[in-house]
Amino acid sequence: MKDFDPAKSFGPAIAEGDPYRLRGDEDETVAFLRDLAGDERALELAIGTGRIARPLAATGVRLDGIEISQAMVDVLRTQPGGTDIPVTMGNYRDVPVDSTYRLIYVVYNTIHNLLTQDDQVQCFINVANHLTDDGVFVVEALPHGALHLSDNQYVHAESVELKEVRLDVARYDPVTQLLDESHVSLSPGGVRLFPIVTRHIWPSEMDLMARIAGLRLRERWGAWDRRPYDGASRNIVSVFGR
Ligand SMILES: C[S@@+](CC[C@H](N)C(=O)[O-])C[C@H]1O[C@@H](n2cnc3c(N)ncnc32)[C@H](O)[C@@H]1O
Repeated sequence: MKDFDPAKSFGPAIAEGDPYRLRGDEDETVAFLRDLAGDERALELAIGTGRIARPLAATGVRLDGIEISQAMVDVLRTQPGGTDIPVTMGNYRDVPVDSTYRLIYVVYNTIHNLLTQDDQVQCFINVANHLTDDGVFVVEALPHGALHLSDNQYVHAESVELKEVRLDVARYDPVTQLLDESHVSLSPGGVRLFPIVTRHIWPSEMDLMARIAGLRLRERWGAWDRRPYDGASRNIVSVFGR
């Protein structure tokens, strides 16, 4: 997508709607991560408005976050528990913090927001450098099949209401593995576009990125409730360790 700027894709218009966009699996996600965190500090890459970080911190986990969008952090600070979590502004690829962690995680398919293989590999390497010896890196990614591509594209009707229709429109380039996507809102007020580009990876590619970083796959699930990962899965939850 020409002129797409990842740093601007989660601006104020997205941030303001974000806290209300729960996915319904937050309790399972928090329970899964809580088990792995133990009594050590944990780090969320791309913390956003704290959809997972706030309830996880509420269970007693001491948490740090990294985020690139000031608009998302501004909304985080207005949410219950949102002022207690230290956030470093920056690109999570670089893991720009000093500490080491027993648990580092990136959820909600945000690993795909890094747009080159190099950036994704760098992320795994930098995460490995910030894990304790017994530490784990948890990644929630989107399986290719969940995109429902036909001829490398799709149009999904996200919602059809009296005063607004929302469409999710995308084209996929199998060479770069980039998905150019826009959420399109049609209403009497006009047309609004919410563009996003993501780079999609097979689980096997992710496992090789982990190996390059000195990590190995420890567990892989089809959802946060630990159901098996298979060809019909709509989610990939992977746990990597040394
Ligand atoms: C889908 S949201 C997920 C937010 C939160 N983790 C959650 O589960 O609700 C993606 C977030 O990643 C942030 N983000 C995208 N690319 C980033 C990058 N390279 N470094 C840091 N944050 C990034 C966006 O600003 C946005 O807040």
